[in-house]
Amino acid sequence: MTKCIIRGFGRYAPKRIVTNFDLEKFVDTNDEWITTRTGIKQRHMAAEGESASDMATEAAKRALADAGMKAHELTHIIVGTFTPDSMIPSTACRVQQKLGIRDQMCVDVGAACSGFLYALETARGYLALHPESKILLACSEVITPRLNWEDRASCVLFGDAAGAVILTGKNAAGAEDTPRVLDIMLKADGSLGDLLMVNGGGSADPYKLGTIVDEEYFVQLEGREIFKHAVRKMSAACEEILEKNGVDKKEIDVLLPHQANFRIIDAVGRKFDIPAEKVFSNIDRYANTSAASIPVAFSEAVETGFIKKGDLVLLTAFGGGFTWGAALVQF
Ligand code: ACO
Repeated sequence: MTKCIIRGFGRYAPKRIVTNFDLEKFVDTNDEWITTRTGIKQRHMAAEGESASDMATEAAKRALADAGMKAHELTHIIVGTFTPDSMIPSTACRVQQKLGIRDQMCVDVGAACSGFLYALETARGYLALHPESKILLACSEVITPRLNWEDRASCVLFGDAAGAVILTGKNAAGAEDTPRVLDIMLKADGSLGDLLMVNGGGSADPYKLGTIVDEEYFVQLEGREIFKHAVRKMSAACEEILEKNGVDKKEIDVLLPHQANFRIIDAVGRKFDIPAEKVFSNIDRYANTSAASIPVAFSEAVETGFIKKGDLVLLTAFGGGFTWGAALVQF
């Protein structure tokens, strides 16, 4: 199969930072509760009118610069998001427009917090069909306007951000074929979909003129249930991908999980006896940015040297749907 090489990383976070102490002023919560239950200390919030495509475009420009490529070289644009700019056009088409380019294939992938891994597998499929492809994969979420700020159990958990990668079938001339995606494994269980959803406005619950925007239109979740499933399913996905690829857990240099809750991250790391210093987390600064969380964390881990050349990196995610999975990347 054609290789899937990560040629560049980019990320973007809105300027506005809202700390737990800031939240205390308008939500019935406190820094101690949020910190001990989740590890979150602050989150970025999009400015009024700042859209998922605006943020994805910024992350994309940085990823293109990192890859040493121009936007017009791209053949495909894939955007992972559950907070698209609009129902039509897709956010990917908006990103294309904002990059000032035309004729690429543009598509959105919706898999909530597993969006990056689902989109990465989609990109691998395109590369298998068209080995010369140059793919922009951007995940971008503007979640904070989709939160019910009267529901303290959900509104403290999320933030806004975007992350992007450039993917090709081979590396630049003279460069080694790394970082390379070795394998991806994905699953879903739609029977558990009601535990985490934004229902209002979809075709199952369409709005009509004059509809009141109530809690149906915002993120609704069953935190405790999600917590249990997230730990179990991310651990099972990691186990499966390691076994399938004949990799011992001791060979993993970096575990980079979806950033939903530090206790979930910690529990998955412990299950695999992966020492804390090998587990990347930035949830304290970003909160849960859904599909954007892995590419944002990935970009930071590479830039700061947390991930080094030669490292074997294990990614894992879990999100609404439920969807989950794992991926192995050789640096
Ligand atoms: N501030 C203060 N108190 C709060 C808050 C808050 N923000 N939210 C809830 N509480 C209270 C509750 O009312 C409850 O009080 P009570 O005992 O008097 O009724 C108490 O805190 C305990 O609430 P629990 O829900 O039992 O708290 P728990 O320890 O389970 O932690 C949490 C909740 C952090 C949401 C956890 O379940 C979790 O992280 N779940 C998974 C994360 C998640 O749902 N992510 C959504 C996306 S999916 C994904 O990304 C994997």
